[in-house]
Amino acid sequence: MADINSFTENSQIFVPSENFVSKANLNPNTYATLCKKANDDYLGFWGDLAKTYINWHRIFTQILDDSKKPFYKWFVDGSLNVSYNCLDRHLKTIPDKVAIIFEADDGASESVTYRELHKQVCKFANGLKSLGVKNGDRVIIYMPNSIEAIVAMQSCARIGAIHSVVFAGFSAHSLADRIIDARAQYLVTVDGFKRGGKVLAIKQDVDAAITILGTDSPIKNIIIQKVLDVACKIVPKFDVWWHDLVLNQSDICEPEWVLSSHPLFILYTSGSTGKPKGVEHSSAGYLLGAIITMLWVFDYKDSDCFWCTADVGWITGHTYVCYGPLALGATQVIFSGTPLYPDASSFWRIIQRHRVSVFYTAPTAIRSLIKAGGDLPLKFDLSSLRLLGSVGEPINPEAWKWYYTLVGKEHCPIVDTWWQTETGCHMLAPIPGVSGLKPGSCCAPLPGICAGIIDENGHNVGLGGSGYLVIKKPFPMQLRTIWGDNERYKTAYYPEEISGSKHYYVAGDSAHLDSDGYFWILGRIDDVLNVSGHRIGTAEIESALVSHKAVAEAAVVGKFHEIKGESLFAFVVCKNGFFPAKENLENLKEELCTWVATQIGAIAKPDDIRFVEGLPKTRSGKIMRRILRNIANGHQITQDISTLENPAIIELLKTDI
Ligand code: WT7
Repeated sequence: MADINSFTENSQIFVPSENFVSKANLNPNTYATLCKKANDDYLGFWGDLAKTYINWHRIFTQILDDSKKPFYKWFVDGSLNVSYNCLDRHLKTIPDKVAIIFEADDGASESVTYRELHKQVCKFANGLKSLGVKNGDRVIIYMPNSIEAIVAMQSCARIGAIHSVVFAGFSAHSLADRIIDARAQYLVTVDGFKRGGKVLAIKQDVDAAITILGTDSPIKNIIIQKVLDVACKIVPKFDVWWHDLVLNQSDICEPEWVLSSHPLFILYTSGSTGKPKGVEHSSAGYLLGAIITMLWVFDYKDSDCFWCTADVGWITGHTYVCYGPLALGATQVIFSGTPLYPDASSFWRIIQRHRVSVFYTAPTAIRSLIKAGGDLPLKFDLSSLRLLGSVGEPINPEAWKWYYTLVGKEHCPIVDTWWQTETGCHMLAPIPGVSGLKPGSCCAPLPGICAGIIDENGHNVGLGGSGYLVIKKPFPMQLRTIWGDNERYKTAYYPEEISGSKHYYVAGDSAHLDSDGYFWILGRIDDVLNVSGHRIGTAEIESALVSHKAVAEAAVVGKFHEIKGESLFAFVVCKNGFFPAKENLENLKEELCTWVATQIGAIAKPDDIRFVEGLPKTRSGKIMRRILRNIANGHQITQDISTLENPAIIELLKTDI
């Protein structure tokens, strides 16, 4: 801990300019009032916000039902429609305001207004209804970032169907697992798309997923948007073209009014077992979280041009692409390309072209841009920017300073936002008109979020201490449960050992509180890795590896990586007779990487594979991952190895056998 202390205590503080504070949505006074209200009257605080920012069909009379802890219901008897709140409520005031500017991989751009988007959503929602999609049905969306992906999500919300977006980089196997777990009957996809100049014909992966599922497949229809006109298999009545489905549909579709806790979506994320968790979000609490964080953290104003670079396949793309900006009637940019294609200036070109004012991206993207063209931002007019954001992992101070200086020209606050798929929106983040910024710290919990850091005995760690990051009171935007697995929801987020009788939400991260009360996220406490800001469970990759015919055992750990933050290092024990000869080592490594990519997706491919004779285990058979982590990172083994069953193994782990 000596390291973290010297690091955090010497940090410079960047205070907001007077100019920024004078125009900010929250200034020190209004912020203090909010905090006081949250403190004095917790339920009233949330109830008032929900009344202010959501258009209700029927207003709620009960703010929180906590009779079945930890299954909470917020704004219990209220009813609403999220798509109504994102579209219809703007039709009278700003029908012709641009809602979405889409930038394609090749630089082509198109845009839609609120009126047009509303029509597209109504038509597609009516199309879904014509296929038989009903309130509560699950619809998988397997599409790249596009206006249509947002239309599909909003259409589901409109008719009360529950969407589950699967990132278009996941493999057919991962898609099949999610279809089965969600028991989804409908799937929306594209024939193919271009990303980073490459053509990805993903309808083929959808067909492969349906083949994998065979007679178990619950899918009744697949809807395909024609994007590239690549050849794809069409089974009449089963495969339906998007353009045929919306043809002749009315552009009016009455919203389906649902209860506050009605599931808006399921989004799969990795946990500590091999099976991803279907995080289920509510309608009202989730929407409220998206709205207030747009206002408080991004300081959103009607005049802004907002750009979050995330893909709709992740939670960031749900909250800060599909729901938050639309709920506020924002103009936003969406992008289907990558930061490095056709070169490292695509972000800066887009900011200049559309006069983006609020820009939100991930540290891994920033680091790759520094490496590929650290001075490129200087060649563009970025004067429209007024606020920058970061998400996904701690931002290292060097990247922070580059972002602040070269992109923000030292006048844009950087909001380092800590949150999770499960929390739905920002939980800890600077309030840009209030907080002094320390590079690498996500500052403090937002008003109403009772976050704390506790030790093994459940006590607050106090200034200078480190421990488990918890949220002590239920909050409206938290996940409602894990789809189909209430038990796992309880054990994953309310584990007895940490959560105790107080019912603290346990985030799975450890954190440090510095002497000024700033929070610093230290990393995960479970076997979950963070590669390029994406969460990947080691168990998932291990189970993919051992499903290969040559593999007996595998253990995956994180290795420090300059750009990705962490990379994947796999120790593999082969079955007898499958250990490769020296000249075939590389071939088998290559084969295993391809195997993992087909089992999960390219993002889960190990960066390093080492073939070993055995894994370091305790006498009770538990793999000692800390040892593997040290070896992967080339560190000395300092921990006690007396509990190891076979201490001699350590030397053998340092090279391939
Ligand atoms: C995990 C959540 C939140 C959307 C993207 C990732 C890590 C996230 C930060 C940050 C330090 C961060 C945590 C968290 N994380 N943001 N600003 N500083 N760590 O969502 O896949 O659900 O992952 O990402 O470890 O638990 P996710």
